[in-house]
Amino acid sequence: MKGNKHIERDENATKIFNDRNLAQNYRNLTQILQPGITVLDIGCGTGSISRDIANNIGPNGKVIGIDNTESFIKSGQESYQSVSNLELIAVDLFDYNPDIKFDLIVSARTLQWLSNPKEALIKMKSLLKPNGQISILDYDHSNLIWNPLPPESMQEFYSTFLKWRADAGMNNKIAEDLPQLLQEAGFHSIEKINSDEVYNEGDADFKSKIGIWSKVAGSKQMVEEGYLEEELRLKAIEEYNNWIETSALSMTMKLNEVRGKL
Ligand SMILES: C[S@@+](CC[C@H](N)C(=O)[O-])C[C@H]1O[C@@H](n2cnc3c(N)ncnc32)[C@H](O)[C@@H]1O
Repeated sequence: MKGNKHIERDENATKIFNDRNLAQNYRNLTQILQPGITVLDIGCGTGSISRDIANNIGPNGKVIGIDNTESFIKSGQESYQSVSNLELIAVDLFDYNPDIKFDLIVSARTLQWLSNPKEALIKMKSLLKPNGQISILDYDHSNLIWNPLPPESMQEFYSTFLKWRADAGMNNKIAEDLPQLLQEAGFHSIEKINSDEVYNEGDADFKSKIGIWSKVAGSKQMVEEGYLEEELRLKAIEEYNNWIETSALSMTMKLNEVRGKL
């Protein structure tokens, strides 16, 4: 059974994922969506972007979203049960062996969490049809831009977050390394498309979008693993929330969409 802290973490993440959509959070993908294709969305979270892809490709197409966090899949199955060409499955990418192959495999903000992204790309390759295409959307966390800089406490929290990720084998600038990784995994016709997300004061969802870092700091994991004092974590949340209310002008999250063909 999952502990309370996991439930809390999953509920926070569920809200973040449900707020995402294709138009704002995977905006260039529509260029390669065609009516009637079969799409696999890996690490789909609650499936809100998968739902938009399903609606875009129409009733003759099919989207399967997979995620290895069961609560995200359960939430999506409830929310999007009326979308008849969308299926959400709780399974790990490395254990997923479907009977069908896909025209297009997409994966947004997922390889950033893996210590073996090349193996994941090789696994994805095995799930594509001949002539199939892959599209990976991911972050360069090492180049996040805040304007103005947030309080020292949040800057320290963020640099600790990057160190914690790096120590766990995650690539903080995977967005920049994806073209090379796709090439090494055997893809060709590789394209890199800038997909930065820029949030400006005055945007309707500005505070909730830039508030992502208070939500990340809401997790006690780095404290429990000895990376951070609890006092600094709480200070970072409080001072960052105050900065959002009083000083924040913009935040840019650096992302690339990288495509490749078989
Ligand atoms: C940051 S979320 C991205 C959700 C969604 N794609 C989006 O862009 O909003 C990354 C997701 O990848 C899932 N994930 C991580 N490793 C996975 C694996 N090996 N197989 C399947 N899903 C995985 C996590 O459970 C999480 O939901």
